[in-house]
Amino acid sequence: MQDKEYLNIEDVNTVGKTVLVRIDVNSPIDPASKRILDDNRFRSHKQTFNKLRNSKVVVIAHQSRPGRNDFTTTEQHANKLSEILQRPVEYIDDIFGTRARQKIQKMETGDIIFLENVRFYSEEVLQRDPQTQGETIIVNKLTPYFDYFIMDAFAAAHRSQPSIVGFPQKIPSISGCLMEKEIKTLQKIKKEFKNTYFVLGGVKIKDSIDVINHLLENKTAEKIFVTGVVANTFLKAKGHKIGKPNTDLIKEISDTKQIQQAKKILKKHKNKIETPKDVAIEQNGQRKDIPINKIPQNKMIQDIGIETIADFTDKFKNCQAIVMNGPAGVFEKQKFAIGTNELVRTAAELNAYTIIGGGHICTAAEDACTKKQYDHISTGGGALMQFFTNKKLPALQALKNSKQKFKTKY
Ligand code: 3PG
Repeated sequence: MQDKEYLNIEDVNTVGKTVLVRIDVNSPIDPASKRILDDNRFRSHKQTFNKLRNSKVVVIAHQSRPGRNDFTTTEQHANKLSEILQRPVEYIDDIFGTRARQKIQKMETGDIIFLENVRFYSEEVLQRDPQTQGETIIVNKLTPYFDYFIMDAFAAAHRSQPSIVGFPQKIPSISGCLMEKEIKTLQKIKKEFKNTYFVLGGVKIKDSIDVINHLLENKTAEKIFVTGVVANTFLKAKGHKIGKPNTDLIKEISDTKQIQQAKKILKKHKNKIETPKDVAIEQNGQRKDIPINKIPQNKMIQDIGIETIADFTDKFKNCQAIVMNGPAGVFEKQKFAIGTNELVRTAAELNAYTIIGGGHICTAAEDACTKKQYDHISTGGGALMQFFTNKKLPALQALKNSKQKFKTKY
């Protein structure tokens, strides 16, 4: 145990103990019904909860971010977790107030409580250093109730937020089964990676551009294929007229600085970035594929086009390893899921190491083929990408520091 950099759930006795478990069940939500569309991330935490059958378990998690239309309460998440674990999970409409704390105090062995969306608490969305996060109200209020903090939210391991890095400052902390599995698998795979292609889509433009910059600067990526809103940013940076709704979306999600950033990357690494040749829009209720020099100026881009799919998948044949993160289009709408589905299906058939990451794209991977065809399906999107940039994951650092700090208490 002394040689380990951080401890895991097997290393400590959690029987009868009260534990705070940070999970990541941030999930795609149907915009109309507001129902959770996919339970992959819930199932991935099952082993951790099974190991904690004889503990008092308090669950803390986030769903989306303030301002997004899928920023909702975790009540539904508690019900979904209960359904998957086949055990009662009680949702509490509180994070660290009197009601939550009184409930925790009255818990019995075997109980599971699921707290409200931790990002309803404003300090949670600030990314600051671990020491500062360790002094936040949430950490100070909840700390006295717990024997251990268990970090199982690999998908949020790249965030330096109170519920990730703050608690390990105050409570002896260990990794859960999922966190452990992700780190170990990725460390092993990374050692064997060469000639690696990255396919980056989705809407998290700032995160993705930062990752692209690192991957190219430290020569981890042989090529980067961009899709989704990330691709629109690069198309705009290349001078293509992508239309007002698409430019507005980039500004709404992030800011125009990202377009400037993309321009800089293109200037330095032009031949390493592959952008779409065509895109799909909606016309009279139908999908229509349009070359990028003919994008109607009043239409939303909803997917990469058919020609792009053919071009990208053909180029994939040259890689020895491929990492995919983020959907290529609005995959919730069937006619715009073609790009995402075709890319993940092709990756599964490649004679190369394949890693698929992030909630949305994993759902597509599941729909398109069996999971067995990939070397690793990661629950992480941004966290997975950060792992490959060689930047330290704040959650992992926090676990390592906690082991040093609480030596005598484990
Ligand atoms: C994710 O889905 O990548 C994680 O839940 C982190 O979410 P965030 O990007 O909103 O911090």
